[in-house]
Amino acid sequence: MKILIKNAKIIKSFSSTPFSGDILIENDKIINISDKITIDKSDKTIDATNYIAIPGFIQTHIHLAQTIFRNLAEDVPLLDWLYKYILPLESKHNENTLYDSARLGIAELLLSGTTTIQDMETIHFTHTSFKAAEEMGIRTCMGNMLMDKGNEILSESIDFLIKESESLYRKWNNYDNGRIKYVLTPRFALSCSKDLFNEIKIMSEKSNIPIHTHAAENLKETEIVKKETGYRNIEYFERIGIASPKLRLAHCIWLNDYEYDILMKNDIKVLHCPSTNLKLGSGIAKVPEMLDTGINVSIGADGPPCNNNLNIFNEMKLAGLIQKLRIGADSMPAENIFKMATINGAKALGLEKDIGTLEEGKKADIVLLKSNIHSFDYEEKNILSTIIYSMNRDNVAYTIVNGKILVEEGKLLVAKEKEILENAKESRLHFIRNL
Ligand code: GUN
Ligand code: FE
Repeated sequence: MKILIKNAKIIKSFSSTPFSGDILIENDKIINISDKITIDKSDKTIDATNYIAIPGFIQTHIHLAQTIFRNLAEDVPLLDWLYKYILPLESKHNENTLYDSARLGIAELLLSGTTTIQDMETIHFTHTSFKAAEEMGIRTCMGNMLMDKGNEILSESIDFLIKESESLYRKWNNYDNGRIKYVLTPRFALSCSKDLFNEIKIMSEKSNIPIHTHAAENLKETEIVKKETGYRNIEYFERIGIASPKLRLAHCIWLNDYEYDILMKNDIKVLHCPSTNLKLGSGIAKVPEMLDTGINVSIGADGPPCNNNLNIFNEMKLAGLIQKLRIGADSMPAENIFKMATINGAKALGLEKDIGTLEEGKKADIVLLKSNIHSFDYEEKNILSTIIYSMNRDNVAYTIVNGKILVEEGKLLVAKEKEILENAKESRLHFIRNL
């Protein structure tokens, strides 16, 4: 299968100069990027005049299981949001509702130009969410939620959780030629016993599986972690032996200097979720400072009940704006934001050899943005600012993952949008009735 993208404005990476040219895809890979490509025959040619070709966006912290709870947990801080609303809602999922929630989320992500996600599901039925990712073609790192303490509503025994993890790992890790990967996902320090963390550590080391969790998101949360464990959040992770380049931490807002040092020395990956941090009133992560010290920070929208959607354009804008207000207009250049949403995301997931930039030999994960009434007027030198501050999901014309066109001319090809919506509406009723 050969796809030729003709005459696009190509941005290979956050640091490269845009140029007009063509991209040739063969099967799942980019095989040629140059000013002009002529071939005898392609299976499909896309006329990309007026399109900007960029590496697909990578969101490193998502909860597809929560998509269907959008707008059901409003105007409360993290711990109330979680214990009063989200855990009870997650506990009521069944296979059907989880599948519909995952499909709804994936549709939104693809339509808005996200080609790769790292996702955290709920305790049960995670094979259904893997199935949704398999069918809809998005590149996915995913895990079942691990929690054995802290509440009565949603938790399981260590034995159950680890068996479930092993079964999902065997079935899904490296599925579809590596497009899908399994990740261990303990919820956060407050929902996991030391024994559970120990089992997670053993499995992670034995099979080289990354660990994806939340950390230091909210001040109250960090105070309880300190009271329960005797340590600050990141310090606790270091003490129990999980601080390593394979550790991926969402939020990282309430840290002291010693904890930033732990992140830096262990190459721990930080997953920044600006809209969630604002909406739950959690705080502002010190992203420019972390980037300056060499910490890899990437971006994620988190779950729709805390932000309330999965649109990377919102996250990129906010990632810039909140820092500009906090420490100055020059604190977050557009290149840094674009970098976080592309190659830093790839690095966070250990996929930088495959995705995150447009390069020959890399996977063909490409987004084509069309300029329109609110974004036609860019100059090459500020094209990334145009993408971040002027563009939005209505600019996404094509989303290509692994060489497959999943969105064409703004339309989802891999599933029927109407069917996804109808099923999601039906599944949502299950939760509304049980509120
Ligand atoms: N901390 C523990 N669980 C969650 C969650 O589901 N979302 C967010 N934002 N923070 C959490
Ligand atoms: Fe989260």
